[in-house]
Amino acid sequence: MCGIVGCVSTKKNIIPILVDGLNTLEYRGYDSAGLSYIKDGNLIINKVKGRVKDLENHISKNINANIGIAHTRWATHGKVNEINAHPHNVGNITIVHNGIIENFHKLKEKLKNKGYTFKSESDTEIAAGLLDYYYNKYQNIDKTIQKFIKKVDGSYAICLMINNDEKTIYVIKKDSPLIIGTSKHTNYIASDVPAILKYTKKYYILEDYEYGKITSDDIKIYDKEGKLIQKEIKEYQGSDLISDKGIYDHYMLKEIMEQNITIRKTINPYINNIEDLLKLPDLTKYERIDIIACGTAMHAGLVAKYLLEEYTNTKSEVFLASEYRYQNNFLNNKVLSIFISQSGETADTLAALKKVQQAKCDTLGIVNVKESSIARTLDQVLYTEAGPEIAVASTKAYTSQVALLSVLALSHAYRTKTIKEEKLIHILEEFRSITSILNPLLEDTKTYENIAKKIYEKSDVFYIGRGLDYALAMEGSLKLKEISYIHSEAYAAGELKHGTISLITKNTPVFSSATNKKINAKTISNLKEVISRGAECYLITDEDITDNSFQTIKIKKVSMFLKPLLTIIPYQLIAYYTAKLKNCDIDKPRNLAKSVTVE
Ligand code: F6R
Repeated sequence: MCGIVGCVSTKKNIIPILVDGLNTLEYRGYDSAGLSYIKDGNLIINKVKGRVKDLENHISKNINANIGIAHTRWATHGKVNEINAHPHNVGNITIVHNGIIENFHKLKEKLKNKGYTFKSESDTEIAAGLLDYYYNKYQNIDKTIQKFIKKVDGSYAICLMINNDEKTIYVIKKDSPLIIGTSKHTNYIASDVPAILKYTKKYYILEDYEYGKITSDDIKIYDKEGKLIQKEIKEYQGSDLISDKGIYDHYMLKEIMEQNITIRKTINPYINNIEDLLKLPDLTKYERIDIIACGTAMHAGLVAKYLLEEYTNTKSEVFLASEYRYQNNFLNNKVLSIFISQSGETADTLAALKKVQQAKCDTLGIVNVKESSIARTLDQVLYTEAGPEIAVASTKAYTSQVALLSVLALSHAYRTKTIKEEKLIHILEEFRSITSILNPLLEDTKTYENIAKKIYEKSDVFYIGRGLDYALAMEGSLKLKEISYIHSEAYAAGELKHGTISLITKNTPVFSSATNKKINAKTISNLKEVISRGAECYLITDEDITDNSFQTIKIKKVSMFLKPLLTIIPYQLIAYYTAKLKNCDIDKPRNLAKSVTVE
């Protein structure tokens, strides 16, 4: 989603720094880009519809500017075009903005009545107008920003320049992340840390309703009343800059292939012996575990629900964060709410988390990005060690989430004595061997490429399953549709004949997994029903099934706690090779953003 970079320096030309930052933020997903700087008293703005490389073509290579702000926009208000792209300038004020100004219609009317006119359809231009209005009225930037914070509803991370000020960038933040990086004679602003890591690892985190004044040698941060705040400086500890694709054509393929390592790394502290399981949070005082997340992270939650209910007798519910935040949550102190997020910045997940905290109930999180907004807000956080996930479609973050949640469920089973110790020891052994268990599946690329050849020209694909296999069907279907743009749906296998089966026609591909011997026969019967109606079927299973009416992909027989980690690999790779045959922009699918920071 939108990305922000800003820089002010007395020693460096800031243009390449802004461009580097935007390039690093590309993975978040965007549709237009822009940059503005002040040079010799002149404000210059360059904007393009398209990619950062298109923006670079518009910028003269010989400028040596010392103050500037830049942006990648993921359209919310107004079409994807140059006019709606950021920065927006109104009067004396130029801003870039992440988030949504919810009361912008009302503010627009008010400003129009004061004589303002606007060029774009964007809510950001209204924010710039409001700031300009207060700045003209008070002739004081502190009062301007404080008033802005009082009047504006919604979410914002704003980077602001005043036309005649070549020394200072101002920042304002609410519900959208913003950090301020610092080094000698040069300071930086960014929506996320990777954008500035090439230049500094030291940064401050702005919290909601705070604002800041940043010059090349000074950073001052204030609360919404204008009181100066002393902030702790953070030092980035993660792996260095976003890695390159290495030998792979796409980040997505690289990230799928490294799952044999990232899963192991994530669960490593908890699997060496049975006592290691006790390092995980104790869930025994809770009667219900709620799991709240979006998209793929929610699908990881479905796996956890199944394991907790089936193996620990603990009631668990899974919610989409966007729904959860507006519904009755039936919370009490016997409920633990688990939040799952790769980016740690998903707006709906963060809002749901704040809601649970307002109800004074316990929260635990599974998060990939350290120091992200969600990680900082949670009572307790367990980090996945997937490393930076660049491809928009989540793969290695998902399997790290699933693995960590599975080990958490296993630790709960140990504490509640709902699984025999010898079985637990065996499952831990399997987890320790996960790399070698996954390797053959990851290497079997020919099988997935051949299946991709059969489905890439189809318009509809279905995924079915029961229990855990239904949760996997949902994730498999999402992977295919988001990167290949083929319409696909996931259904509980038993539900097909209550409506959906009418969509099955000759050669419609139907994928399924059957990895639970208690219900496999039922799923296979459902597969037969669609085969009778002409479907072309593929089954992932750990059973020895020979049946010429569908193609089987065999996975190793392992405990239920590991099965999802195996089943998902063929689904991910089939989606990847299908999108590749269709020449899709696999790492940056249309309309999608890596970090969904608006509602
Ligand atoms: C799909 C995908 C999304 C994310 C969702 C939540 O491949 O990546 O569905 O899972 O947007 O994002 P996080 O995990 O960052 O909260």
